Amino acid sequence: MNGSGLRSSVAFVGLLFALLAGSAAGASYRLDGSIAPSHYNLTIGVLSNAADSALFDGEVGITLRLAGNTPVSVITLHSDGLNISECWLLDGATGAQVEVIASERLTYDAATQQVNVPLTQALQPERDYTLGFKYVGRIRTDLVGLFSASYVEQDTNVTKWMAVTQMQRINARLVLPCFDEPAMKAKFLLQIERPDGYQAMANTRLRETTAVDQGRFVDHFLETPVMSTYLLAFMIADYSARGNVSKFAVLTRPEFYNYTEFSYHVGLQVVTEYEKLFQSPYQQLGNDVLQYASSPRFPHNGMENWGLIIYSDGVLVQEPGYSDGWSNKEFAARIIAHETSHMWFGDSVTFEWWSYFWLNEAFARYYEYFMAGQLYPEFHLDQQFVVRQMQMIFNTDARNSTQPLTSPESEIQTPAQIAYKFSGITYAKGACIVRMWRNAMGADNFDTAIRSYLEEYHLKNTIPRNLFYYLYENWPATPYVDLVKFFADYTEQVGYPMLMVNASSEHFINVEQKRFLLNPLDGSDKTLRYTVPITYATNLAPNFYNLTPSIYMDKLVDVVRLYFDEPIDWILVNLRQSNYQRVLYDPTLMSGLQVALSASNHSGIPVENRAQIIDDLFNFARVGYLDYAEIFEFLEYLSLEVDYVPWYAVYENLDLVAKRLTPEQLPNFRSYLEDITDTVFNKLGVGWSAADTPMDVAHRNKLVSWLCRYQAHQCREKVNVKFNTEQEKPSPDYRETFYCAAARDYNSFTLIWAMYFLETRPSEKELLWMATSCTTTYETYYNKMILNSTESVENKKAGIARLYEQNPDLVQPIFEMITQNITELALDLGSWSDTAEVVSNMAEYFTTREQQQLLKDFNQDNQQLFGQSASVLSQALDTVEQNLQWAEQRLDKLVIFLSRRNGSSGQEATSILVLLVALVSLVAWL
Ligand SMILES: *[C@@H]1O[C@H](CO)[C@@H](O)[C@H](O)[C@H]1NC(C)=O
Ligand SMILES: *[C@@H]1O[C@H](CO)[C@@H](O)[C@H](O)[C@H]1NC(C)=O
Ligand SMILES: *[C@@H]1O[C@H](CO)[C@@H](O)[C@H](O)[C@H]1NC(C)=O
Ligand SMILES: *[C@@H]1O[C@H](CO)[C@@H](O)[C@H](O)[C@H]1NC(C)=O
Ligand SMILES: *[C@@H]1O[C@H](CO)[C@@H](O)[C@H](O)[C@H]1NC(C)=O
Ligand SMILES: *[C@@H]1O[C@H](CO)[C@@H](O)[C@H](O)[C@H]1NC(C)=O
Ligand SMILES: [Zn+2]
Repeated sequence: MNGSGLRSSVAFVGLLFALLAGSAAGASYRLDGSIAPSHYNLTIGVLSNAADSALFDGEVGITLRLAGNTPVSVITLHSDGLNISECWLLDGATGAQVEVIASERLTYDAATQQVNVPLTQALQPERDYTLGFKYVGRIRTDLVGLFSASYVEQDTNVTKWMAVTQMQRINARLVLPCFDEPAMKAKFLLQIERPDGYQAMANTRLRETTAVDQGRFVDHFLETPVMSTYLLAFMIADYSARGNVSKFAVLTRPEFYNYTEFSYHVGLQVVTEYEKLFQSPYQQLGNDVLQYASSPRFPHNGMENWGLIIYSDGVLVQEPGYSDGWSNKEFAARIIAHETSHMWFGDSVTFEWWSYFWLNEAFARYYEYFMAGQLYPEFHLDQQFVVRQMQMIFNTDARNSTQPLTSPESEIQTPAQIAYKFSGITYAKGACIVRMWRNAMGADNFDTAIRSYLEEYHLKNTIPRNLFYYLYENWPATPYVDLVKFFADYTEQVGYPMLMVNASSEHFINVEQKRFLLNPLDGSDKTLRYTVPITYATNLAPNFYNLTPSIYMDKLVDVVRLYFDEPIDWILVNLRQSNYQRVLYDPTLMSGLQVALSASNHSGIPVENRAQIIDDLFNFARVGYLDYAEIFEFLEYLSLEVDYVPWYAVYENLDLVAKRLTPEQLPNFRSYLEDITDTVFNKLGVGWSAADTPMDVAHRNKLVSWLCRYQAHQCREKVNVKFNTEQEKPSPDYRETFYCAAARDYNSFTLIWAMYFLETRPSEKELLWMATSCTTTYETYYNKMILNSTESVENKKAGIARLYEQNPDLVQPIFEMITQNITELALDLGSWSDTAEVVSNMAEYFTTREQQQLLKDFNQDNQQLFGQSASVLSQALDTVEQNLQWAEQRLDKLVIFLSRRNGSSGQEATSILVLLVALVSLVAWL
C-alpha cells in the first residue's frame, strides 16, 4: 500500500486510542490458531435487491481443519457488519452435512470483530470440514471493505456506478466471515453475480461467465494462490482494458483508454525488471495474470492486491495538458514500481503479523525509488531519496512520538494498534534501513540474499529473523560487525545517531555518537546508542562511491579514532548519506568543508552529501548545537549550487526560519536569497523551454515559488511579462506556481480569476483557486471570492491561508481586514470554530510584538462571540509568544549577520569575526 499524507494523523489518533483500549479490555483480538483454513469458495451478488441497492449477498464455504490435535467445539473467526442468515458444517471430503447451526446460536463480539460458531460435536483432528455461511452485507461509502464509487461519463453525461474493494488492513471481515489474519493464508475461489452492463474483475483470470435469469450473469474466476485475506480484491464496473486481460492489462473507464499508455508501458517494464532482479518470473509466483485497475475514489495511491492492483485514477491516467507533467509521470512510475514490488514482497512472501509490517513496506518504498529510478534515470530518484525519504523521516524519528520498525507482537493487537503500524516510520525509515544494508553489504550480496529469502519463503510468512538470516549469510567478512546488534539497533530501537566528528590533532579524527533529538525534554530516551557504520572521504582520498564501511563503531565504544598519515584539509563522513545518521563537524572541519564546497565542481562532493550537509546544519541550528548565523554564512556556497537536491534540502529547512522574520527583516533576507540564488536563477529563470529536464522543471517550481514569495530578483515582474506575452499554458506541474506568481499583479489576477470561473474540470478549478489566492489585492479577493462566493468552506479557509503565506509582508493588514468585522466571516463560513481556526492559523505567521498585541486585543474584544472555540484563540496567543521568544533567542545573530552583510561589502571581515566568536563559545555538544 502507498498512502497519502492524511494517514499519519489518522495513525496518531490511532495511537491514543490504542493506549486506552489496549489496557482496558482483556479481550483476545488474535485468533488462537487452533483452526487452519485452506480454501474459501466465495460468491458475491450485487445490485439484486431492488429495495436497497447498497446491500450485497454473500455465500462462502470455508475449508478448514484443526491445526493441532485438540478438539475444538467453538469455531471463532472474524466477521464485521455482516448479517448471517444461515450457517452449516459439511464434511470436507464427502460434502455430507455434519450439522446446521441456527443463526440465533451464533454470538458476536463487537470489539474483537469476531463471530463464534458453537458446534454440537467437536471437530476431529486430521479431517477437513467446510464451514458455510449465507449472509447479507452492505456496499459501503467509506472506502473500506466493498464500497461504491461513481463517475460522470463525459460523452453521455451519465453517472456510472461501480464497486471497489479495499481489504487492507483488516477489512476482509466486512465482506465475508473469514480468518482475517495475515498468516492464515488460503486459496480463494470467487464468483460474482452482477447485472448486464458491468463486468467483474478479481485477483485472478476470468474463467467463464454464465447466465442466470433476468439479465444477470455470474463471472467465475480461477482459484488464487495461497494468500492472506487482506489481498483479496474485486471490482464491478463498466471498464475497458488496455493490453491482454489474460496476462497484463490496465483497466479504466473507457474514456481514459487513451491516457493509460504511460502507465501500461511502465507496468510492462517494471515487471520484467523485477523478474530479472529477483530471478523469479511473476507467473511462477502462482498467479498468471496481473491487472492494474483505477478508481475515482480510493483511500490510497495504490493497493497491491495479488493480480489486481487498484490505484487512484491519478496514478494510472495521464491526461494531456492536465495530468501529464513530469511530476505526474514520476509519481506514476514510483507508485507502480512500489505496488508491483509487493507481488514478491508482501503477496508471495508476507509478514507474519502486523508488528512486522515493515517487512512489506520498507522494501516496497525502497524499490519505489530505486526501481523507478533505474527505469527513469532522468528523475534521479536515487538522489531524491535522501531528501524526500531520509531527511523527511529524520524529523519524525527524533521525537518521543516515534516508533520502532518492529514492535513487540503483544503491543500490536487491537485494530487501532494495527493502524498505528501504518506510519511513515514503517515506510520511509524502513526504506532507509534497507538502503543502508544494501550499500554496506554490497549490491550483489544484497540481491543474492533477497533472492534466497524470496525463494525460501514463497507463499509463506516471515518475521524479521528470517530476513536477517539471509543478510547474515551473504554479509562480507570484513570489516567486523556484530550483525545481530546492527540489525536490532535500527529495527527494534527508535531513533538514530548523530556523529560528532572532531579533529583532535593533525593526524587523528575522533568520532563519537549521541542520539539526535529535536527536543531532548520530550520524554525520549537520550541514552540510546547504535552500531554505527562509518564511511568517509577526504581531500587526499576523494572517493565518494565506495559505500562499504571502513569500520563499524560498536555501541560500547565511546570514541573511534581515524588516523591519517598526512594532515587533511577536509573530511566528509557518511558518503552519499547512505547510513542512517547525521554528522556534526567541529568548526575547523566545517570551514574546511565550506572551502571544498566552494571549489570548482564542489570538489567532487556528491549531491546527496551536499543535501545532507545542508539538512544537518539546519537541524543542528534548530536544536542549538550551532547558530543560524553560522549556517547562513556557510550556505553562501550556494551561490555556486545549481542542483535540485541540495536546494530541496535548503527550501525544506529554510521555511522554519524565514517564517519567523519580521517585515523589517525581510529586505535583508531577500538580498541574501538573491545572492545565493543568483547562479541558479540565471540558469532556470521563470520561463520554460523544450530543453528542460524533469529536474529543471521541479527545481524551477520551487525556486520561482520562493523568489516570488519574497519578491527577490524581480520575480513577480518577470513572471508577469511572461504571462502577458506567452500563448502556451505552463505545463501542469508548473501551472499553479506560475499563475500564483502572476496573480500578485492585479490585471493578471483578474484574468486568472476569469479562467477560474470558466473552468469546469474539478482538479483544474482547484488549481486555479489556489493560484488566485496568491493575489496582493486582498481586499477585493476577500470581499468577492470569500465573503460573496459559493466556494466550499474548505476552499475558503485554504484561500485565506494562501493570501498571507504567499505574501509574508501582508500578514498584518490581512489580519486587520478580517478582524474588522469577524461576524461577517463567521456568518459566511457558517461556524465560529472554522473562524477561530482561520484566525489561529494566521497567528502562526505573526512575527512582531505589535501583531501579538493586535491578537490580544482581538481576543479580549471578541472572546464571547467564539464560545467554546475561544480556547483555540488563547492557544494561538501562546503559540505566538513561543514563536516570538524562539526568534529572539535563536535568530538574533542571524539578523545581525543579514543586516551587516547587506549594509556594505566592507563589513564582511567583521561578520566573520562575530562568527568565530560564536563558534568558539560553542559548548553544547562537548
Ligand atoms: C462454490 O460455491 C458455489 C455456490 O455455493 C457452488 O455452486 C460451487 O459448486 C462451489 N464450488 C466449489 C468448487 O466448491
Ligand atoms: C449533465 O447533467 C447535469 C446533472 O444531471 C446537468 O446539470 C448538466 O447540465 C448536464 N450537462 C450536459 C452537458 O448535458
Ligand atoms: C483515442 O484516440 C484515438 C486516436 O486519437 C481516437 O480515435 C479515439 O476516439 C480515442 N478514444 C477515446 C476513448 O477517447
Ligand atoms: C514518550 O513515549 C513513551 C512511549 O511511547 C510514553 O510512554 C511516554 O509517555 C512519552 N513521554 C512523554 C513525556 O510524552
Ligand atoms: C455580492 O454579489 C452580489 C451578486 O453578484 C452583488 O449584488 C453584491 O453587491 C455583492 N456584494 C459584495 C460585497 O461584493
Ligand atoms: C458586520 O457584518 C455583519 C454581517 O454582514 C453586519 O450585520 C454588521 O452590521 C457588520 N458590523 C459592522 C460593525 O460593520
Ligand atoms: Zn506498499
